[in-house]
Amino acid sequence: MADILIVDDEKILANSLGILFRDEGHQVTTVHGIGEAITRLEHLSPDVALLDLRLPDGSGLEVLRAIRLKHPDAQVVMMTAHGDTATAVESVKLGAVDYINKPFELQEILLIVEQALEQQQLRSEVAFLRRRSQSEGLAEMIGECEPMREICSRIHLVAGAGDSAVLITGESGTGKELAAIALHRLSARRDQPFIEVNCAAIPENLLESELFGFEKGAFTDAQSRKKGLFELADGGTLFLDEIGELPLHLQAKLLRFLEKKSFRRLGGTLDISVDARIIAATNRDLRDEVRKGGFREDLFYRLNVIPIHLPALRTRADDILLLAEHFLAHFSSSLGKPLLKLSPEARIAFTRYRWPGNVRELRNIVERLVILSPCSEIDLALLPQEMWDESNLLDDPPPLSSGFDLESHLQQVELRLVKQALVLSGGHKGHAAQRLGMSRHALKRRLYKLGLAEELNDD
Ligand SMILES: Nc1ncnc2c1ncn2[C@@H]1O[C@H](COP(=O)(O)OP(=O)(O)OP(=O)(O)O)[C@@H](O)[C@H]1O
Ligand SMILES: [Mg+2]
Repeated sequence: MADILIVDDEKILANSLGILFRDEGHQVTTVHGIGEAITRLEHLSPDVALLDLRLPDGSGLEVLRAIRLKHPDAQVVMMTAHGDTATAVESVKLGAVDYINKPFELQEILLIVEQALEQQQLRSEVAFLRRRSQSEGLAEMIGECEPMREICSRIHLVAGAGDSAVLITGESGTGKELAAIALHRLSARRDQPFIEVNCAAIPENLLESELFGFEKGAFTDAQSRKKGLFELADGGTLFLDEIGELPLHLQAKLLRFLEKKSFRRLGGTLDISVDARIIAATNRDLRDEVRKGGFREDLFYRLNVIPIHLPALRTRADDILLLAEHFLAHFSSSLGKPLLKLSPEARIAFTRYRWPGNVRELRNIVERLVILSPCSEIDLALLPQEMWDESNLLDDPPPLSSGFDLESHLQQVELRLVKQALVLSGGHKGHAAQRLGMSRHALKRRLYKLGLAEELNDD
């Protein structure tokens, strides 16, 4: 169903067009002059507009201009009674998709409108895909710390590297799946399928047929041939999540695929060639699995050609607040709340917390806070219990292991406290100095010594 606007002063024609398109299941608005058309366009965004060129209060081109301005996606078809080719051509220059000479058969206009709608559908699909591939490439991966920048540039590099296998490692919730999707979207395979398989979620006895498919009669229930996920990923990317859970005999089959780019369906005798890039992910230590005999060493090396390791969130303190702000904005807007922010104390609690569930946990906590917060600033008191518990915080006393260095340890403590004071006082040096029990002047000297000279510039 589409929205169609008809502008024609010949009431009989306008009305019969109205009936025609309503019968086709469209929503139709009929008006008889420019003024009326312009007023209706305030609230109406037509998919297609049929405009008479000569109207009692002026030229249909005026309506065309107004539509182009307000609803650039609308498809405009001009109708002219006088074979006024020059104006019709001008209207096409102004963005009309077509024109039709009166008198015309209803079938004719029906066809033109149908084509216009198809074109519009196609255009919006293309625009959607283009937006998606641009904005959802890496833009969704938040992180400005050095390791994350490096990961982003590696993802860009690897995306262009054809079909080499990629192994993504990292603790649960660090963004392995997000990285795999970004890699696919940035690669030349972006318009081909991205097929995801969680090796831990599919029962072992089904995994082989899910992955590789089967021939009719391969086993009792195999009534007909079935394609596996490897085949469905042809031309695209196959994301094997939790690869550490892949049983040994399937590891052998995967290795063979990586080497020959072909495999056999269950019960099959034919080698099937497939062009799919393999991205594997795991939160386990695969080297350790190799040592224990649970993971094939040759497969590990074959997958590990291009490793991408996502660091735990607790090791990227600067990204914690960045991500928190990103999710605050996201959930505030999706839940229809004013933009929420963290109080200075809450900000510190965020950076001191250990985040065992990494970015996923942060995202979930922020969502909950946005729902629960009664005012626009999220206060410490609202944070969940686990964020308070000393055992979950990062400031553990350091072990006096070999290589311990008191000087550098003290300097780190100093650095952290000074930074905390600056955050708590919103960057105000006087207040920060007060919190630290020192003079403003002493704080400035300290900042200089700690290499925080950039903090000195802004006041
Ligand atoms: N750098 C990031 N920027 C924005 N969002 C992120 C980032 N990293 C992770 N996320 C978000 O955190 C959540 C968890 O990420 P993802 O599912 O990719 O983690 P994972 O490493 O695959 O976890 P698991 O090992 O548990 O499967 C997702 O909602 C994801 O969008
Ligand atoms: Mg995952």
